[in-house]
Amino acid sequence: MNLRIRPVQKLAGQIAVPGDKSVSHRAALFGALAQGTTEIEGFLEAEDCLDTLAAVQALGADVTRKGPGQYRVAGAGLHGLQEPGDVIDCGNSGTAARLLLGVLAGQPFWTFLTGDESLRGRPMARVAEPLRRMGATVVGRAEGAKLPLAVRGAKPLASLRYELPVASAQVKSAVLLAGLYADGPVTVSEPAPSRDHTERMLRHFGVRVETMKTTATLTPGELSGATVRVPGDISSAAFPLVASLIVPEARVTVTGVGINPTRTGVLDVLAAMGAAIYINANEHSEGGEPTASLTVQRGPLRGTTIAGALVPRLIDEIPALAVAALAAEGVTEVRDAAELRVKESDRIAVLARELGKMGARIAERADGFAVTGPTRLRGARVSSGGDHRVAMALAVAALAAEGESIVEDVACIATSFPAFAETLNTLAGEECVSVVE
Ligand code: S3P
Repeated sequence: MNLRIRPVQKLAGQIAVPGDKSVSHRAALFGALAQGTTEIEGFLEAEDCLDTLAAVQALGADVTRKGPGQYRVAGAGLHGLQEPGDVIDCGNSGTAARLLLGVLAGQPFWTFLTGDESLRGRPMARVAEPLRRMGATVVGRAEGAKLPLAVRGAKPLASLRYELPVASAQVKSAVLLAGLYADGPVTVSEPAPSRDHTERMLRHFGVRVETMKTTATLTPGELSGATVRVPGDISSAAFPLVASLIVPEARVTVTGVGINPTRTGVLDVLAAMGAAIYINANEHSEGGEPTASLTVQRGPLRGTTIAGALVPRLIDEIPALAVAALAAEGVTEVRDAAELRVKESDRIAVLARELGKMGARIAERADGFAVTGPTRLRGARVSSGGDHRVAMALAVAALAAEGESIVEDVACIATSFPAFAETLNTLAGEECVSVVE
């Protein structure tokens, strides 16, 4: 499936984006582990999170869809999960695979996990290694470093103090979840803070998790079912927000967006680039996740540097930020972001190659890239490499190009933002994005 994008002069209006992917995965999984029922509102009904829902059902949790984005999960309790009758397919989702590995490391049965071609190429040793240290058995392809993997727990798991070599919320979460089955507290330290949805939501479900700077300690305990209201995904909001910075006349508001400080690096960077961003924080947060309406207005941008501890706070927004950088005066440098090479695609290589086809001046580096702007982009035929965020970044860039573009291989957008094209068309007031074969 391909998208045809016609450049637009204007974007205006107020939209909502779908539920946060990270929070949705956790709500489904923690609901399954809890005693009692969990009510979820605003669940992201996109492929990645639906794969997690299917996985928890395969493990014995009872899931009812009550309406769009509304689910009831009857939890199996920490010790009530059952051996699944088949291999669990995590599709494209690294979060599903890694968080499930953590939970499955505590189970007294074997589970087999696999994923699509992209996920089968992504590193799993970073999760398998600490889980083995806790006593779980994880075996599989590439000496147990790549999916398909089989995992089985020991009872109980050993408590652990673990220092993550790279900041990763997925690995941190896997170790904390395995820690629910440990014989004592589990402590995870990271080189820089990564998203803390697991810690916040576990507390919301009644588990003791203490955080000191970049260290989280979980004390094993039961989860009790809770109500979770999933905020809008800032990682999806980044695309219309960046679009509204590069289209000639634009002012866009995205409502109900999660602004957990471990996720708002994108706002800090856009502000450093000179963007006018208005953050109107909502008073209430449920489950410890704050939300806001975000408004962005077209204006001049300047280059900036994205490096160090900022990187984990915006790792998924780098494709969108690369597009903002194309419109900025001067050089925008991304460093310390080698993790981009092991996301849904090698995002450094794919962004440099595909944005280059539109005339971008973008130099690839081992751990990032440098963009020199501003560039008058030209419409081109580009390809997503099967990566949802690259597909959306290319489509947004095409909105401000000269002439029409085709973005190939866009079915992947359904993993996180199924209504992406409609959302841009609503803001444009015309059909600037359309599906073509
Ligand atoms: C996620 C953590 C990040 C992020 C991913 C979602 C999560 O990955 O890139 O899209 O929900 O925990 P890492 O933990 O591997 O950095």
